[in-house]
Amino acid sequence: MGVPAAALGGCKMSEASAEGEEHGPATGTSAREREVSLVVDAQATADGAGVKLRRAIGTRALSMVDPFLLLDEMHSDRPEDYAAGFPTHPHRGFETVTYVLDGAVDHRDSLGNHGHLGSGSVQWMTAGRGIVHSEMPTHEDGKTSLWGFQLWVNLPASQKMVKPRYQDLAAGRVSEVTLVDASVRLVAGEAGGVRGPVTGIVTAPAMLDVKIPKKGRFAHALPEGHNAFAYVIGGAAEIGPSRTLVREGQVAVLGPGTLAAARSTDGARMLLVAARPIGEPVARSGPFVMNTDEELKQAWEDYRTGRLVQD
Ligand code: CO
Repeated sequence: MGVPAAALGGCKMSEASAEGEEHGPATGTSAREREVSLVVDAQATADGAGVKLRRAIGTRALSMVDPFLLLDEMHSDRPEDYAAGFPTHPHRGFETVTYVLDGAVDHRDSLGNHGHLGSGSVQWMTAGRGIVHSEMPTHEDGKTSLWGFQLWVNLPASQKMVKPRYQDLAAGRVSEVTLVDASVRLVAGEAGGVRGPVTGIVTAPAMLDVKIPKKGRFAHALPEGHNAFAYVIGGAAEIGPSRTLVREGQVAVLGPGTLAAARSTDGARMLLVAARPIGEPVARSGPFVMNTDEELKQAWEDYRTGRLVQD
């Protein structure tokens, strides 16, 4: 099974038409600003070995924004909220993105890959056919705070069993750009003539950490046909032509168009994330995301029998 030819054709056309465009809200004659189609509150929950978190995507209210399957936020000054972490667990069939704003996450996998993700850093991990790893949030010396995110990005059927790949990026490798009034950390995608450091991802994602100052504006071109959402992580933003107010802890799903735009009265910080939708059936069970129940059963069987991870 592959991506339907019609869907691929549509994506190519939209990418070509978006190429080289830079729209500001005042100058965008051909830009169509995306309206907010849905606002959902993130929900308090716990996962791993008892990590307290807020789940913005992957809930009953918002099960996914294709290809995004899950978005969790961990934000606490109390180590007992996060220190139990995410001990050894498997993944197959998708990608996990860990973005650390404060504190750190130590990761280690069963093939001996390990690393320390410090404040401002990103890990984009393509789990592909299988990894078994642990992710343990921790704080920096002399502090107790942790603030971080995990985003799950689906893979199309043709890529679910690829070899695992890590892109670990220290804080200094995340691009900094200014878009209208906003200062932006660009993890993936292109903005202001700069390309983000994460590359070679099949769904062509954009991931921006956007700080809008008081009375400031922000605008960013996104390919037509890509799905997009904004998760407000500080303050409140007015998003889209109807100026829908989206507050801290709320995720706004954006409708069709070629431009994501926002403004803020008192200042706001938000993650803006977009990618090409996959449009395939999704079968998910815990740490596995496949196309069919049969493939899920196989993943659990491979994990039980030690065949999930191959050199
Ligand atoms: Co994991």
